[in-house]
Amino acid sequence: MTIKKSFLIIPLMVVAFTVSAQQHFKPGEKISDKEFMNQALTPPMGWNTWSEFGCNVSASLLMEMADIMVSSGMKDAGYEYIVVDDCWQVGRDEEGNILPDPETFPDGMKPVVDYIHSLGLKFGLYSCAGSLTCQGRPGGRGYQFQDARQYAEWGVDYLKYDVCYMEGQDHEAAYRTMSDALKECGRPIVFSICEWGTSEPWSWAKGVGHLWRTTYDIAPLYYGQVNWGALGFMSIIDRQADLWRYAGPGQWNDPDILEVGNGSLTHDENITHFSMWAMSAAPLMAGNDLRIMSDEVKAILTNHDAIAINQDSLGNQAVRFLDMGDHEVWFKRLVNDELAMCFVNRSELPWKMDYNWKDTKIHHNYKTVDFSKQTYGLYDVWKHKDIGTTDNTLNQTIPRHGVLMLKLRPL
Ligand code: GLA
Repeated sequence: MTIKKSFLIIPLMVVAFTVSAQQHFKPGEKISDKEFMNQALTPPMGWNTWSEFGCNVSASLLMEMADIMVSSGMKDAGYEYIVVDDCWQVGRDEEGNILPDPETFPDGMKPVVDYIHSLGLKFGLYSCAGSLTCQGRPGGRGYQFQDARQYAEWGVDYLKYDVCYMEGQDHEAAYRTMSDALKECGRPIVFSICEWGTSEPWSWAKGVGHLWRTTYDIAPLYYGQVNWGALGFMSIIDRQADLWRYAGPGQWNDPDILEVGNGSLTHDENITHFSMWAMSAAPLMAGNDLRIMSDEVKAILTNHDAIAINQDSLGNQAVRFLDMGDHEVWFKRLVNDELAMCFVNRSELPWKMDYNWKDTKIHHNYKTVDFSKQTYGLYDVWKHKDIGTTDNTLNQTIPRHGVLMLKLRPL
């Protein structure tokens, strides 16, 4: 009898939940701030075309990448969004509707989105708050509500919104307009503000978007800047290190697409890059060509221990609590009183570490971790094994541009 009842109750609950979830997303009816924030309670994960494909985007490329996202195990590791960046759009029709390039998207956008959804993945696209995109394609200015309705019709789940050709528009106001349009388009769409940090979006974008770029573009480089202004990943991390207080569930600092597997980054640099993004609660948007991904790169991008730290439900962005020049120690508080710590070697030489936990007290955000009072078990996130406890000195050698990333569990 009891068993029969529960069989009945569960399907009823599912129906009730689906109906109530749909009710909150009616076209023309604005969703609440809470519903909006709930759309990205952990940092979004996916893949983006820009770094490796630039303007060479097409329906077939997106579908192929979606297939590999599944077959490579990336989907199982948590990657969700396939995002087409700039250059999918060519113009607008006489009614102002945005038009995908008929040569590269011969059947339009909808079948591509449907295909991606059929694999259990989500779909994202790119537009711009200015009159043109950064590559000179039609932008969103003046068409925000019309575009949002169109995206909802196609089944778009994520929008990256750039900041070129602003022609005097106030940045915050422009992003607020698009945010309003998305909030009443009838579909939950994650809003990725690509504003490069110029108007300090972390100070106004909570509740406007779910993530905001903190700097200009990333380059596949450990540190420094290339001639057109793009930054190495550690340079980006330096620039957003102090922004930890603005990150949390539904609100993420975005240090840009992952360059793991791109350019001439070494194995250790790829690991450091992924570790820093994981520690920073950064959106994890892979940017490599998945068709030629090596097993080594795949293992980095799908490291479930690092991803669990990135996706931790507290949503804390790591702080650099020890800066010794070439050597740094970062820490991030996790649920269940666990911690993540990352020892970073920025030098050109190996770091022969001799770390005495008993001397370490971390005061951060009105809380203290005192290793002389509490012992933690140490788990190496890249070797996937326990390496002792904080009762003993940590003796390790970290390679040039490498890290030691640990998860600590109170014993
Ligand atoms: C800007 C953005 C990049 C990318 C390009 C596309 O530079 O910051 O991430 O979207 O535009 O043109």
